[in-house]
Amino acid sequence: MSRSKVLHSKPVPLFFDTPNQTEDAEIQTAKDGPLLAVIGCGYWGAKHIRVSCDIRDARVSMAADPRPDRLEYIHSQYPTVAVTRDVDAILNNPSIDGVIVATPVVTHFELARAVLQAGKHALVEKPLAMTSAQCRELNAIAEQRKRVLMVGHTFEYHPAVCFMRQMIQSGSLGELYYIDSRRLNLGLYRQDANVLWDLAPHDLSIIFSLLEERAQSIGAWGCAHVLPDVEDVVYAKMGFKSGVAAHVHVSWLDPVKVRQITIVGSNAMLVFDDVQPSEKVRVYQKRFRPRIDGDSYADFQSAYHHGDVHIPAISNSEPLKLEVLDFVNAIMTGKRPLADGLRGLRVVAALEAASACLRRNHKHRSNDKHQPTFRRGNVSVGGPEIAAA
Ligand SMILES: NC(=O)c1ccc[n+]([C@@H]2O[C@H](COP(=O)([O-])OP(=O)(O)OC[C@H]3O[C@@H](n4cnc5c(N)ncnc54)[C@H](O)[C@@H]3O)[C@@H](O)[C@H]2O)c1
Repeated sequence: MSRSKVLHSKPVPLFFDTPNQTEDAEIQTAKDGPLLAVIGCGYWGAKHIRVSCDIRDARVSMAADPRPDRLEYIHSQYPTVAVTRDVDAILNNPSIDGVIVATPVVTHFELARAVLQAGKHALVEKPLAMTSAQCRELNAIAEQRKRVLMVGHTFEYHPAVCFMRQMIQSGSLGELYYIDSRRLNLGLYRQDANVLWDLAPHDLSIIFSLLEERAQSIGAWGCAHVLPDVEDVVYAKMGFKSGVAAHVHVSWLDPVKVRQITIVGSNAMLVFDDVQPSEKVRVYQKRFRPRIDGDSYADFQSAYHHGDVHIPAISNSEPLKLEVLDFVNAIMTGKRPLADGLRGLRVVAALEAASACLRRNHKHRSNDKHQPTFRRGNVSVGGPEIAAA
């Protein structure tokens, strides 16, 4: 890891459009930890800068965005971060160790590849890229150059998701039946992606990390109600070898904000409600076990078990901060991060398979506009990389 030359300890001029201008700025050497830069200073990039500035072992030295208003905002909030419209000012700066890419999805691949080829570690927002071929290329470059490649699967770091993973692994829920994930809201419509690519990476990354298993099949159905060809409501279903089924419902066109995951097992059931400010997880000791030989009404009734509801104490650490900490640790120690490039590939492969189903479904609907039919695609979403992840 290179040691820094460009930690700005005092407010610096607003725009640095060339590396030389950056060099001229008043600078201070960082004693510990990597120097970071952020490309893309919109809604989520600003959050990355906030949490990174909060991490003791890291220093954010630069941020890039073509929009002057975003750079002005970042400069006003974080005067020690040098801002620039020129991404090359970051790529050509030898002091910067790691770069966070928080730009629109269509730009992820080109920017991530440039970051890795510049010899820097990369944390790329979700989804990692637009195709699994692009993800494979990024993984190969990172492997070859021995750089960290991480994807912004923030929910993999959520303490509630870690708790759910432990519940499943310990067998407390019994035999797993199904997982149901709903992420609904009114908006925000995006220009660069449909609701599947915008919201479902969260659900898919959570489900894969809970099951630690590759999906064998995926089916998807969706509708573009408002913008032509931009699906704003999508339902997807995945089948796993273990027999578990997973359903994902994502929507930009729903009156109520819902962020809910239900896990149903033979012993107990669990609900993670991320809209709640606290007590986000509830474990229900509920089950249904009909007796094979009993056919009376009493037998049927006694098959239902309604036990206690447990609300576990779960840390309220900010998932994004834990994610950036993992990136910093990976840079410092060489340890593979949790949400590595292979996990990014796993999610993009599933999105691709679901998109193929949506396209087939769309073709079908244009033949008969009023009778949309659920089309199930038996698409394997596993390559060797996915199986290994
Ligand atoms: N992990 C999460 O929970 C989460 C949440 C929201 C968004 N995201 C992801 O973060 C990324 C950004 O989303 P957002 O909501 O912040 O979008 P946004 O539109 O608010 O911000 C994107 C910013 O990138 C800038 N930009 C565009 N092209 C660029 C380029 N080539 N170089 C430098 N900057 C460029 C834009 O000017 C804009 O300021 C997306 O990939 C999105 O999927 C992740």
